[in-house]
Amino acid sequence: MKKKVLVIFGSMSSEHEVSCISAANIIEYLDEEKYDIKRVGIDKNGIWYYYTGGIKNIRENRWIRDIMNKELITNQIKELRRYDVVFPVLHGKFGEDGSIQGLLELARVKYVGCDILGSSIAINKILSKELVFSLGINVVPYISISDREFFNREFDKRKLVENIKENLGFPVIVKPNKEGSSYGVSKVEDDVSLISAIEFALKYDNNVLIEKYISKRKEVECAILEDVLEERIFASTPGEIILPSELYDFNAKYENKKSRIQIPAKISEEQIFAIKNYSKEIFKKLRLTGIARIDFFVLKNKIYFNEVNTMPGFTDTSMYPMMLMHDGIGYKDILDILINNVY
Ligand SMILES: Nc1ncnc2c1ncn2[C@@H]1O[C@H](COP(=O)(O)OP(=O)(O)O)[C@@H](O)[C@H]1O
Ligand SMILES: [Mg+2]
Repeated sequence: MKKKVLVIFGSMSSEHEVSCISAANIIEYLDEEKYDIKRVGIDKNGIWYYYTGGIKNIRENRWIRDIMNKELITNQIKELRRYDVVFPVLHGKFGEDGSIQGLLELARVKYVGCDILGSSIAINKILSKELVFSLGINVVPYISISDREFFNREFDKRKLVENIKENLGFPVIVKPNKEGSSYGVSKVEDDVSLISAIEFALKYDNNVLIEKYISKRKEVECAILEDVLEERIFASTPGEIILPSELYDFNAKYENKKSRIQIPAKISEEQIFAIKNYSKEIFKKLRLTGIARIDFFVLKNKIYFNEVNTMPGFTDTSMYPMMLMHDGIGYKDILDILINNVY
């Protein structure tokens, strides 16, 4: 009997389009001999549809207008219970934060990736940093602030600026605590634009981080694939994203072809070794399961942990599958391991 697999894509996150591209690749690579593959798309308002149309329509995000091939789902739990395994290919909010994982738990269906706890820890940049710091791994110095504090009438903004100037120094990076794909992120050169950058980031999340800007960094990532059956956590050879511009922003990530990928990252042997070990330690400390991409900033003599993604991109230019493939794990094998890894 073939395993009944459901791929879910889209949803209410700012990474809706990326999710559609990732899902289209995953559907294409899933072995039809082994799996009976079905798809559900969630639109930007959170409405669920069973989708039977072309993969190209998913990839190019035209599935929502393909009314002949989609059918409204009114009972999500009942729908989810029809499958053996669900692959929630959802990035960011509601996808990587424990929300969909909670629904899958309620439906009592097995699913790919991290559980509620791991997902909600990893999406929270502040909490992740606290835990990683406790492992003795460097994190970029930061100051965090909530919207409650910031918009309180008694809050002294000038004091905040002074604090940042003194403890971090300009430039700084301002970013939402729980976002992805560089949404709401800005680089701030001086105190004049700091407040508006914080207000901008607060549009995306209730909490904001203000971090010391790390210049001349290499952005190095490591793919983790857990194979429960083999009882091992595999850390890939780290890869590097060579930036076309200083800030690795949304355009650079998905549109600007000039950002290049280099596997292995051009760092020392010792740093490669350290990053693989750190990544495994972080994976365990943050209570992750199945899959994660752990991101670092690397300087000549220092490695900083930056963030974790629990449902990394699977687009044609995505690091996660490329790093594993570099180590000889084929695309289909990655998907097989993920699907057979469910608890
Ligand atoms: N402290 C920092 N110093 C320099 N650049 C940074 C810093 N923090 C983030 N960036 C840049 O912004 C990008 C997005 O930030 P990141 O923390 O990875 O959030 P996201 O979840 O949006 O990917 C990074 O890939 C990097 O290019
Ligand atoms: Mg990032």
